Amino acid sequence: PIDPNFDSNRERVEGEEAAAASGEDQDEAAVAVWGPVDPPEQLGIHGTHVAVDYDLCIADGTCLEDCPVDVFTWVDTPDHPESERKVEPTFEDQCIDCMLCVDVCPVDAIDVDAS
Ligand code: SF4
Ligand code: F3S
Repeated sequence: PIDPNFDSNRERVEGEEAAAASGEDQDEAAVAVWGPVDPPEQLGIHGTHVAVDYDLCIADGTCLEDCPVDVFTWVDTPDHPESERKVEPTFEDQCIDCMLCVDVCPVDAIDVDAS
């Protein structure tokens, strides 16, 4: 499962390295990326309030379908060993802490810091 203490146990990755781990063609990723990253095989944890461990996510998609406020968007992750796409918590600031996504993920890839 995702490490709920990722923000103290991992280093935040910035700039182009973070964008590369998000499959984004820009200078900085839209949400925080917590390393280590080594694209395309290792992509780290994405997000802070709503965090998704890209290296655990198998693209089940239930989180995205069930989120009542549409926090997640798909991101293509070609050549990642677990799945070819991941859910980015693009609108994590909209989260209402319902915990649905945390409960439904079959591989426990999501952490929501509701405290
Ligand atoms: Fe969406 Fe609820 Fe998960 Fe927040 S906790 S991202 S509102 S499903
Ligand atoms: Fe991935 Fe789990 Fe959602 S596998 S797509 S984070 S339900």
